[in-house]
Amino acid sequence: MEKRDNKYYINGLLIEDLAKEYGTPLYVYDGNQIADKYNALKNAFSEVSVKIKYAAKALTNPAILKLLKSQGAGLDVVSLNEARLGLMSGFVPEEILFTPSCVGFEEIVEAVDMGLNINIDNISILEHFGNKYHNSVPCSIRLNPHIMAGGNTKISTGHIDSKFGISIYQLPHILRIVKTYDIQVVGLHMHTGSDILEADVFLKMADILFGVSRDFPNLKFIDFGSGFKVAYKEGDITTNVYDLGIKMSAAFKTFCSEYGRDLEMWFEPGKYLVSEAGHLIVKANIIKTTPATAFVGVNSGLNHLIRPMMYDAYHHIVNISNPGGVQRVYTVSGYICETDNFGVDRKLNEVREGDFLAIKNAGAYGFSMASNYNSRERPAEVLVYNGKSHLIRRRETFDDLLNTLNDLDDFNPKAEVLAKKPIKE
Ligand code: LLP
Repeated sequence: MEKRDNKYYINGLLIEDLAKEYGTPLYVYDGNQIADKYNALKNAFSEVSVKIKYAAKALTNPAILKLLKSQGAGLDVVSLNEARLGLMSGFVPEEILFTPSCVGFEEIVEAVDMGLNINIDNISILEHFGNKYHNSVPCSIRLNPHIMAGGNTKISTGHIDSKFGISIYQLPHILRIVKTYDIQVVGLHMHTGSDILEADVFLKMADILFGVSRDFPNLKFIDFGSGFKVAYKEGDITTNVYDLGIKMSAAFKTFCSEYGRDLEMWFEPGKYLVSEAGHLIVKANIIKTTPATAFVGVNSGLNHLIRPMMYDAYHHIVNISNPGGVQRVYTVSGYICETDNFGVDRKLNEVREGDFLAIKNAGAYGFSMASNYNSRERPAEVLVYNGKSHLIRRRETFDDLLNTLNDLDDFNPKAEVLAKKPIKE
């Protein structure tokens, strides 16, 4: 988002015009920013053979998947439906890594049938896999290094209490199964969490993976997951991917020469690629002052962007309709019948009823975590690319909410109650 002459733009288009054209609440994504972020990350690791598998869960709209595919990205998916959306968007199965959590073996079988790369994150599935496929289907293994990392315990995945991955201490058991069933392990994987600041966490993880790799002679890649931190607040420190690129590439090259072969280095970023490029545009329905607070009540809520309530996440908010207005302190709240604050004690240019507000950094885990809570429709999504806007998902309607309901004609609770009553003589 840019501010010029006291007006706010996304990729050259006035945000107020987009809000008027497509209505609010509205997710707007800057496609060029997403492409730039992809290329920045790719360049930071240009010294090694790097593959960037976009974590589709962050923002799954096929237009975004297509855009990243056009830049050269692969895909990281956690469900078969994410994989199907990827295939619809032009990815081929070999470019897709399937890293599910706690799924039944039948889902793994379906993923194998679809031709996806399979990443296994528990011993039980590894045994089923070995039993069924022996060495006929390659796989990778997700390890849990027991490192506490990430911005919030809810999004930390590599610590000892986490359900993710196979414990690094179970390596002897993994090796026993791999050997017994002759499983073809072509990749090792770790992902320790989201919002990781320190390059050191990645280097520590790399060290562990390099050590483990010696037991797996057929590797093609090592996947270092993701967790690159983006700036949610002004002045927030972010993961310095250039610094990380230099340090990790050097370590990786040394490792590859010891291993005896050049392997691929994989990452699977979500937030880094799409978070900052996305904005949720909402309208101020009411200004409500209570003895303690001035609330701006907007036409959206935790049903559309749950991060503030779920993770106490900070999302910067600006009043795009009155950029010159005097600043006042507000709490910006949603219209859901729960406490659903987008931001507390925020300085905003004076908000008038009908003004549009932009909630920043909403590209990742915004729409993809949206729900129909309070029986409200999910917002529309617009992609701006090379200065042109595209409606990439229309706003839901009441009919969409009815789509999955069964016909209620044969259910008549009143008649059932009457039928149960004993008939008096
Ligand atoms: N790879 C794996 C195996 C993951 O579990 C995740 C995220 C990613 C990659 C992408 O991580 P990222 O680059 O986006 O940090 N809903 C939470 C984040 C949950 C992350 C889940 N896994 C949030 O809004 O902060």
